[in-house]
Amino acid sequence: MGYAETYNAWKSDPEGFWMDAAQAIDWDEKPSRALFDENAPIYEWFKDGMVNTCWNAVDRHVEAGRGGQAAIIHDSPVTGTVHRITYGELRNRVARLAGALRAQGVEKGDRVIIYMPMVPEALEAMLACARLGAIHSVVFGGFAAHELAVRIDDAAPKCIIAASCGIEPGRVVHYKPLLDGAIEQASHKPDFCVIFQREQEVARLERGRDHDWHAFQYGVKPADCVPVEGDHPAYILYTSGTTGAPKGVIRPTAGHLVALNWTMKNIYNVDPGDVFWAASDVGWVVGHSYICYAPLIHGNTTIVFEGKPVGTPDAGTFWRVIRDHKVRSFFTAPTAFRAIKREDPEAKELAKYDISCLRALYLAGERADPDTVNWAADKLGVPVIDHWWQTETGYAIAANPLGIEHLPVKVGSPSVPMPGYDVQILDEGGHPMKPGELGAIAVKLPLPPGTLPNLWNAEARFRKSYLETFPGYYETGDAGYVDEDGYLWIMARTDDVINVAGHRLSTGAMEEVLAAHPDVAECAVIGVADELKGQLPMGFLCLTSGVTRPHEEIVKECVAMVRDQIGPVAAFKLAVVVDRLPKTRSGKILRAIMVRIADGTEWKMPATIDDPAILDEIAAALKTLGYPKGG
Ligand code: COA
Ligand code: AMP
Repeated sequence: MGYAETYNAWKSDPEGFWMDAAQAIDWDEKPSRALFDENAPIYEWFKDGMVNTCWNAVDRHVEAGRGGQAAIIHDSPVTGTVHRITYGELRNRVARLAGALRAQGVEKGDRVIIYMPMVPEALEAMLACARLGAIHSVVFGGFAAHELAVRIDDAAPKCIIAASCGIEPGRVVHYKPLLDGAIEQASHKPDFCVIFQREQEVARLERGRDHDWHAFQYGVKPADCVPVEGDHPAYILYTSGTTGAPKGVIRPTAGHLVALNWTMKNIYNVDPGDVFWAASDVGWVVGHSYICYAPLIHGNTTIVFEGKPVGTPDAGTFWRVIRDHKVRSFFTAPTAFRAIKREDPEAKELAKYDISCLRALYLAGERADPDTVNWAADKLGVPVIDHWWQTETGYAIAANPLGIEHLPVKVGSPSVPMPGYDVQILDEGGHPMKPGELGAIAVKLPLPPGTLPNLWNAEARFRKSYLETFPGYYETGDAGYVDEDGYLWIMARTDDVINVAGHRLSTGAMEEVLAAHPDVAECAVIGVADELKGQLPMGFLCLTSGVTRPHEEIVKECVAMVRDQIGPVAAFKLAVVVDRLPKTRSGKILRAIMVRIADGTEWKMPATIDDPAILDEIAAALKTLGYPKGG
């Protein structure tokens, strides 16, 4: 069956399509049906089935004779080490860790926060939670203590599992002081913490609260897999929304298993036993789905890469990893390829490595610009597949499904909707638009299995953020169009979310930090185009009247505040003091116009603007920062 037949097969019988896909999963009790729409527009999948994620990702492969196959390869250029963990070893390690967590009181439904760098122990911690039916929430290491504290208060974890440190090129990231600071800031206190001590930095443990990763597992009874209901939350992953409060996306257990397993062959075109590599971080959704869960559920070998595309040690690192481990499908963010291309435009490093094992490159996380896609396709000589998805969905909404059919590539488009997704372009009134017309991208409800059924502790916000603008649809927050051939084109976000080096960030969250500076009366943060990172945040600060301190000092403090409270990953380094912000007559800040002026793209004077002269002041301020670039 080709793509069109597969998509139509889903459309004409979604229930049959998903029940069929569910057969690839080991159930403790089979579900009686796929969709449960009794609580629509909150939908659930495989709700009356009983299943365990860890069993499906680990134990069943050992039972089926894959115990000796590598499950995880940890390739860490920053520490100069490579380790392999077989499925058999992984089962034993995870069962022991789960046993130790249980001995300390962690049970089904308890939350566990995981704050770890790219080490296999991060995946083991995730899988140990899944084994017990505990709900993990992984927090990206590049976030600061305050962001961790916000998540601790929302998830209310019984336990936090962390590493002593992470390693960024040129510096050790001291996780433990960040963790201690976060626990101090948070109102909720975990019962206990487990610290994985790395040799690069041994952290001080707090007696009575912190356990050493190894010592606490000594002599415990390994835990078996605990079957959970199909709709039981597998994890919560916080992502950026419009405000400073992150959204806790819930991932339901059974749909997650069924859908991720389906994608491995159909989208990524790998068979069990093949090596699959997603160069991302476990703190992001790509890491959850395609470093940890999907490859393991499908019986692949997954690579945990602790390094950067450049500088660890050079722009040939990716090619070395692909060659050394015989990677068949490779997934990363376009920004990583932009970094390589900038450093090694002729791809001279590539000539040193035989990467004929590689069949395809997959890009996601941000818009894949045509220059980068063409460069990658030209240098690698394999299909370059852009695909579009979000933390909320957990896997691709649109892709070129190589395992079904290699559709013609249109550079700049993530191709076509995947089965499960009825994608529509809507105007402001919620009416479907014609091919070629730009509008809001929405997905007709229900969303497919594995996508978010709700937000943790925030059903009203879930409904407001995703369901209310277009009744009967899920609002993606992206704008774009569909062309005459049914290909999707993703053009921009419709909210205040920006994408910096493939990392999703909230300008609203940064504004909240800046507004707390004692000299800042008002502020705006926008995302400006950046050649390497796609976008960079830029702040405009209006000072409280009477403030006479040098502007550079205030700007410096503001930059430090964002780094300190949100984290280095925000990459907030550009800010400028202005007298006033451009607003509509009703007082709304005109951020979109500011973006266009900064990017040097065409813009029209908004009819609703209160005082057009302010735009000249903004342009003058931008000039001092060197924007627009080259103009
Ligand atoms: N822990 C602590 N700090 C981290 C971190 C982590 N896990 N990840 C990033 N940071 C820090 C970096 O050290 C950097 O700090 P600095 O301001 O002191 O230099 C800052 O956060 C910004 O990091 P990053 O966005 O990674 O930029 P970079 O300049 O270090 O590297 C790229 C640029 C393009 C090489 C890098 O962004 C990259 O590899 N991107 C791939 C993106 C990706 O995997 N996205 C996931 C979605 S698929
Ligand atoms: P995240 O939730 O971090 O995965 O970010 C999701 C957002 O990243 C989407 O809503 C898009 O704005 C953007 N995005 C992800 N993949 C793509 C893509 N292939 N093309 C364009 N934008 C993308």
